[in-house]
Amino acid sequence: MTQEQDRVVIFDTTLRDGEQSPGATMTHAEKLEIASLLDEMGVDIIEAGFPIASEGDFAAVAEIAKNAKNSVICGLARAQLPDIDRCWEAIKHASRPRIHTFIGTSPLHRAIPNLTMDEMAERIDQTVSHARNLCDNVQWSPMDATRTEEDYLCRTVEIAIKAGATTINIPDTVGYTAPRESAALIRMLLERVPGADEIVFATHCHNDLGMATANSLAAVEAGARQIECTINGLGERAGNTALEEVVMALKVRNDIMPFQTGIDTTKLMNISRRVATVSGFPVQFNKAIVGKNAFAHESGIHQDGMLKNAETFEIMRPEDVGLTETNIVMGKHSGRAALRSKLEDLGFELGDNQLKDVFVRFKELADRKKEIYEEDLIALMRTTTDPE
Ligand code: KIV
Ligand code: ZN
Repeated sequence: MTQEQDRVVIFDTTLRDGEQSPGATMTHAEKLEIASLLDEMGVDIIEAGFPIASEGDFAAVAEIAKNAKNSVICGLARAQLPDIDRCWEAIKHASRPRIHTFIGTSPLHRAIPNLTMDEMAERIDQTVSHARNLCDNVQWSPMDATRTEEDYLCRTVEIAIKAGATTINIPDTVGYTAPRESAALIRMLLERVPGADEIVFATHCHNDLGMATANSLAAVEAGARQIECTINGLGERAGNTALEEVVMALKVRNDIMPFQTGIDTTKLMNISRRVATVSGFPVQFNKAIVGKNAFAHESGIHQDGMLKNAETFEIMRPEDVGLTETNIVMGKHSGRAALRSKLEDLGFELGDNQLKDVFVRFKELADRKKEIYEEDLIALMRTTTDPE
């Protein structure tokens, strides 16, 4: 990586959008713990909650704001003056506070508060200006941007910039967009909106069609410089963009996506496990980067390749995400080389004939048992006679 590479800001919303997923509610102490792990890991901006939502949310955001060491602390507010005031009350103790205010701009969302396009435009001007009078770091989001008419989106973004927004976030609220479209939208806004080159564009994707990571990266390639994401992709419905995925994609494929983040990736596994525990949402075994099987190999061909050169079947080193080593899982697909290596790790040196004998009995056992543990191998060795 070179110094000239563009920096992509990582905005984590595990404690706001993530915690909004049904059943993922965290306690006050758990929120403080996760915020401190995010801060230590190098997350640029932590969206700590929605202060007007409840007394509990307010208290958590306020305490996170007081404790933050490096991260900007952001609170969410609807496009209403009391929301924005309450948000400011919670975050104002942070050394670097940010107000994030939003309104739904698509036809479906405009119908809910029953505002005309002109009335909504006026509301955006009024609320963003109010937020900017309180705080010099203001983010504005047109919710459901990807289903908002292009002309109206440009008009509202321009109003928000003129009213003082320093970051404009473009949410794909329902996970509807696709990578090419996600990129085209950011490019279009950069080209058409006056003042767009003076603010930061953010991308905020949901994963309803499984495209959140791809859509976020496409937006960055088109000019967005902030990615909004959550640990483990926690979030409503199918979740948000997974922080670990975009960060590792930018690291591993830096050759084609030359952007850098400030994340210490060796802390990814630990925070993933903590978020899974406190939210009660387990991580699927084959989840990219942090799944139990993301660095595990069972097939003989893969295990043999891994033992000779880890790069044969791994594009990242387990240490890069905070694991100590690759997991060679012993099962019916494992080969002789993996068995020998595992037994050597357990302190058994085997001659070729003895290995042959143990391998036959290992395969018989593996046909009966899904996974073979170290204890099984030790038991196998105890009942083996040395034919050498
Ligand atoms: O998905 C969304 O539109 C949001 C906004 C509040 C930014 O989470
Ligand atoms: Zn969202």
